[in-house]
Amino acid sequence: MIENGIMARYGALLDLPAHTIPITLNEGNTPLIPAPRLADELGGGFELYIKFEGMNPTGSFKDRGMTTAISEALGAGAKAVICASTGNTAASAAAYAARAGQKAIVLIPRGKVAAGKLAGAVAYGAQVVQIDGSFDDALNMVVAISQRQPIALVNSLNPYRLEGQKTGAFEICDVLGSAPELLCLPVGNAGNITAYWMGFKQYEAIKSYCLPRILGVQAAGSAPLVLGHPVDRPVTVATAIRIGRPVRGEQALQAAEESSGKIIAVSDDEILAMQKRLAKEGIWVEPASAAGMAGLAAEIRAGYRVPAGQRVVAVCTGHGLKDPDIVVKDLPPAKAVPPMAELLEEVIMAGL
Ligand code: F0G
Repeated sequence: MIENGIMARYGALLDLPAHTIPITLNEGNTPLIPAPRLADELGGGFELYIKFEGMNPTGSFKDRGMTTAISEALGAGAKAVICASTGNTAASAAAYAARAGQKAIVLIPRGKVAAGKLAGAVAYGAQVVQIDGSFDDALNMVVAISQRQPIALVNSLNPYRLEGQKTGAFEICDVLGSAPELLCLPVGNAGNITAYWMGFKQYEAIKSYCLPRILGVQAAGSAPLVLGHPVDRPVTVATAIRIGRPVRGEQALQAAEESSGKIIAVSDDEILAMQKRLAKEGIWVEPASAAGMAGLAAEIRAGYRVPAGQRVVAVCTGHGLKDPDIVVKDLPPAKAVPPMAELLEEVIMAGL
């Protein structure tokens, strides 16, 4: 049996217990796509790459952490797993639990989860429970239940999630031949920024690669790490990162500080504009996934210049297919034409 997931490729570098039983969908190995035109638009003179994590099996970076968390939970004997989620964790947990023969229970904030994520969780057979509250409320509930019942928690409080997710940093270094100078990524519950920083530090220790600066980006209406206090009613179109009390917030701030980077906020308009701009590169991401790149653009507009020759990587965390509504909701329906070539020609020529 040939398996090529992150545990097969990086297992020796992951701190997982001996009881771990590998459950994989061959996640990881996602493309690092050069974006020279976008780099030129942002002042040029540097190399820009998009790490497109939407190419993972369930369409988001969560699969890197879910293969490890579910594998550990299965080895420990868990028959059921639980998570709170803004959607992507739910779909990923549902898929990997299904593959492991476990039951998955996922809690989501009612009305605030994109259609493709909810559909995914249902398709993979999870028990989906909607909460009349926020992600943060849902997380408190699943933590409490996992402490009372033999149900494994697979949110990023689970350390094995981070073990898997740090492989994103390894892959970037392996493709570039060393670490980039700057890494930009969205921040919600702050597990991913924490995991990337762990990964880069591990490669620094074993391969003597330099460390990148980390630019973490939150949505302005949901930016507790920028404001310096929790946000009780987070609001943003980027529902994936609509989180007011990030559980790994302290570690995220530490990653930003240790790396001489920072955590900033961008508006929903900036996020949606960058989502559109990335689509012009042929890369369709969900809104939250455009936040890292939107943050870089905002920094550059505010006067920052990427030093000549540096390599910048923006992690685009989830696929645009996750949230189709955001794109189609403001568009007029596509033009309908009778099956006549002349009429089609008219419509096409009018648009050229
Ligand atoms: N981008 C996407 C597409 C996400 O789904 C998330 C988090 C993030 C970025 C932020 O990552 O939480 O590690 O800082 N989604 C979680 C979920 C909260 O439930 O799917 P983070």
